[in-house]
Amino acid sequence: MAPTRCSPRRFVVTWHVRFGPALLLTVLSFSSPSFAGQTDLPAARALTSGEAIFQAGCAGCHGPNGQGAPQATIGFDKPATFPDFTDCAGTTPELDVDWRATIRDGGHGRGFSPIMPSFREELTPAQIDAVIAHLRTLCRDRSFPRGELNLPRPLRTEKAFPESETVVTAAVGAQHSPDVDSELGYEYRLSARNQLEIAVPFSVLHDDTGHRVRGVGDIAVGLKRVVFASRNAILSGQGEIILPSGNTTGGIGSGVTTFGAFASYGQLLPADAFVQFQLGTDQPTSTENAARTLFWRAAVGKSIRADAVGRMWSPMFELVSDREFVAGATANIDVVPQFQVTLNRRQHIRVNVGYQIPTTNRAGRPKQVVFYLLWDWFDGGFFEGWK
Ligand code: HEC
Repeated sequence: MAPTRCSPRRFVVTWHVRFGPALLLTVLSFSSPSFAGQTDLPAARALTSGEAIFQAGCAGCHGPNGQGAPQATIGFDKPATFPDFTDCAGTTPELDVDWRATIRDGGHGRGFSPIMPSFREELTPAQIDAVIAHLRTLCRDRSFPRGELNLPRPLRTEKAFPESETVVTAAVGAQHSPDVDSELGYEYRLSARNQLEIAVPFSVLHDDTGHRVRGVGDIAVGLKRVVFASRNAILSGQGEIILPSGNTTGGIGSGVTTFGAFASYGQLLPADAFVQFQLGTDQPTSTENAARTLFWRAAVGKSIRADAVGRMWSPMFELVSDREFVAGATANIDVVPQFQVTLNRRQHIRVNVGYQIPTTNRAGRPKQVVFYLLWDWFDGGFFEGWK
């Protein structure tokens, strides 16, 4: 888009050209700036097209094409998280509900820079939705699944959505001197539909004599690929190799290289409810000490937020099952009630706590308290977005 086409209606630019960048910043930090020239407010109120609202109220900072106005004209230092709305990798993970909150309440509401003004007074909810619809057209690559499909992560069921995050999960046996199984999971989104995953387990076990053994378990490296994504559903496949890095003399790890494969499916339901499924198999290269297994997991849940910028609670209920490919084996089936909650304003740090209860083959399979701490580092540093 030629820059000249968009210049006439840029209220913000006119405004700060009039007062200069220094004053712009002062005004921004002391009051919620209105749609730039207050005199133009009625004009802004009358706009209905998302594109017109964007050019009038947003382009001064975000640039006529959404890539950001030039540094020379905006008069503030762009924060590291300053969006380029044409960059699909940056914008598609963001939910409409979060953008709505940012536009209505300003950057501060979600722990972002307060330079992003609040448009609570200037724009009606319908206008905010219209401008978001316009922002969504700026990413032209349709292969990126929408962020709404990034459902809350259950404790055991793997998500279908490819993302960048770090998760520490721990399962602690609910008994005396409990065993602890923990895992550091690192996920890195490589492209629109591909994601790398590395999982490093760490266990603290008690051997037959009651001695405590601890160590790194079998490290897994996987590649996830989205095979299908619609407005409300997403399906992915993942292949992985699990290396025999565990200390088998201490009873940790299988001692054999294993190939794993699974499919994950997520489906949005009405009223912020969702279901997620995972079906997969682990195939050890030798079955002397490890068995081939088939596993499936299912989670159903719902997200509840008091308001768009408040804490989000996601109660979930999971079924977890695995079965060895051995004659006469019966499936282990566990139920895992749990809830996830966001810890900070930006909602990119979350915890989930649940209780895993075996319902079959209960001998030697204690109930476990399972929890994780998740850091969606795509959205910022661990200590960002708390205030
Ligand atoms: C005074 C400058 C300014 C104006 C005017 C402005 N923004 Fe922003 N906006 C920002 C800044 C700065 C950020 C980045 C905040 C951060 O990342 O800390 C931002 C961030 C955003 C985000 C968050 C993007 C993300 O990836 O989470 C959205 C959405 C947004 N703006 C939409 C709009 C819309 C829509 C308008 C017009 C109605 C608008 N902005 C007007 C400065 C502005």
